Amino acid sequence: MEELKKRAAERACKYIKDGMIVGMGTGSTVKHAIDILSKRKLRVVVIPTSVETEDRCREAGMELGSINELIPDIAIDGADEVDPEKNLTKGGGGALTREKIIDYRAKKFVVIVDESKLVKHLGEKHPLPVEVLPFAYERVRKELAEIFEKVEKRDFVTDQGNYILDCYGKITNPHEMELMLNNIPGVVENGLFTRNVWKVVVGAKKGVKTF
Ligand code: A5P
Repeated sequence: MEELKKRAAERACKYIKDGMIVGMGTGSTVKHAIDILSKRKLRVVVIPTSVETEDRCREAGMELGSINELIPDIAIDGADEVDPEKNLTKGGGGALTREKIIDYRAKKFVVIVDESKLVKHLGEKHPLPVEVLPFAYERVRKELAEIFEKVEKRDFVTDQGNYILDCYGKITNPHEMELMLNNIPGVVENGLFTRNVWKVVVGAKKGVKTF
């Protein structure tokens, strides 16, 4: 599996050119992209999507920037699931909020996954993470439990000091669901990504596929 993730990361890194501002995602697939990029010795400024990625990029000697000052030319990020319309679920590692802030603003957003992440319908294999304010998490959990089959609070605190509710069940209307969930008071962000994906790069046993 690591080999497939690495293949996808290698292909995606070819889109990164000298002088670019790069949004850097979070997770095990992105770790490969950071390693590959750091070996290429390009002059790039990286905008990290989590404290974990920030630490890793700093250790690799990369120059760091902020979304407050810069717009990424490209963002490279993983996903938990990808459907045929390039809709995603993200947030398995709990970094969905900073990821969406950066990925949605990138001029080009490239998703890197191994082939196990491809699904017909989102929610097939992984729950949908929803970041919520601790102040109202139980109230929001009850409301989400009316929409989803099951909702579980993850034993985890996000980089913003919030909680994650994992919501189980197939999602047939990702775009509407993304907007609807963010309209619930107490929800900070949800892990549905239904906009701005430029390319999905899939590491497969038979090679790398891009769509
Ligand atoms: C981080 O919170 C997530 O959105 C990741 O991008 C996603 O879970 C993919 O991670 P892996 O590359 O580790 O599977």
